[in-house]
Amino acid sequence: MKALIYQEPDKIIVAEKNKPILQTSSDAIVKMLKTTICGTDLHIIKGDVPSCSPGRILGHEGIGIIDEIGNSVSSLKKGDLVLISCISSCSKCHYCRRGMYSHCINGGWILGNKIDGTQAEYVRIPHADTSLYKINEEADKDALVMLSDIFPTSFECGVINGKIQPGFCIAIVGAGPIGLATLLTAQLYSPSEIIMIDIDDNRLEVAKRLGATKTINGSDGKTVEKVMNFTNGIGVDTAVEAVGIPNTFILCEDIIAPGGTIANIGVHGVKADLHLERLWSHNISITTRLVDTISLPMLLKTVEHGKINPAVLISHHFKFSNILEGYNTFKNAEKTKALKIIIDFDN
Ligand SMILES: NC(=O)c1ccc[n+]([C@@H]2O[C@H](COP(=O)([O-])OP(=O)(O)OC[C@H]3O[C@@H](n4cnc5c(N)ncnc54)[C@H](O)[C@@H]3O)[C@@H](O)[C@H]2O)c1
Ligand SMILES: [Zn+2]
Ligand SMILES: [Zn+2]
Repeated sequence: MKALIYQEPDKIIVAEKNKPILQTSSDAIVKMLKTTICGTDLHIIKGDVPSCSPGRILGHEGIGIIDEIGNSVSSLKKGDLVLISCISSCSKCHYCRRGMYSHCINGGWILGNKIDGTQAEYVRIPHADTSLYKINEEADKDALVMLSDIFPTSFECGVINGKIQPGFCIAIVGAGPIGLATLLTAQLYSPSEIIMIDIDDNRLEVAKRLGATKTINGSDGKTVEKVMNFTNGIGVDTAVEAVGIPNTFILCEDIIAPGGTIANIGVHGVKADLHLERLWSHNISITTRLVDTISLPMLLKTVEHGKINPAVLISHHFKFSNILEGYNTFKNAEKTKALKIIIDFDN
């Protein structure tokens, strides 16, 4: 089969690999129909993710059809259409029993990281019963690919951890796919103001269309001043960090109102200063989280019933045979205006 392989920092190739086989009775082999590329794949290619070794097939998102199934898998059968969670969960360990699938001691974020991923014609999914979600044939398949990672991430790490409530004034720093998915899922809770901050005017334009009440291009370094003006000098009730660099985390510290919550989503590679000398008396909370995908069944229902439409974040489609072009388009988002890219397999 053909697969997209991370060969060494700054080098990916499409090459022939053996089709995966069942390794334990709880595995399934899925024939891929659609996948996508994540910002985290770009982090891996840069060499930022040491757990992912050269030679690995990338990808942790997608939908497909069950091709083979282990003996102990009870809720799925060959031919089922399934959504793949980016997090593999055994459902039995200490962490899974607490709903913290991200830290499953037999799984977690392993797909396209510690084991071969979804940017290939077939993928082996461990703990199939609890890592795959059966979906309807009639469902919008492109939209559902967004539920493997970015929507649960935004909802769990941003909206739930950020304790967003009706009437809140919130700021989302970063209008990439994750920040925009936070914008969409935050609206399930009716915040009164959503201030979207980025340095890319195209993405801010998209944010406005999708419900941001105010947008700020932070390139001029006056973001704090502008947020304070918008909020009568008070700041925001929730600040969601969806970039992953020190400056944007510190920005959240600068704009958070007393009693507020800073919900970090960004993957940080270096330390960021925590200004406790200013914040200690402000009753603020800071949360961090690796996505668990525990909200996936709920999100499936909201999509099915038209409460959110993740497909609005899809900017491009490529065939799997052109996945390298897909990567180039995704990597150069400022020029190409890429958000999420659907990769279709020939079937
Ligand atoms: N916690 C988790 O489980 C989890 C899961 C998936 C992704 N992530 C992380 O979430 C973050 C966002 O993901 P994404 O795919 O949307 O990334 P992305 O790179 O597409 O988007 C980041 C956005 O931040 C903007 N930006 C860059 N510098 C900025 C600055 N100084 N001020 C304001 N905006 C700035 C960029 O223009 C871009 O639009 C990444 O760090 C990603 O690794 C975390
Ligand atoms: Zn991802
Ligand atoms: Zn587990």
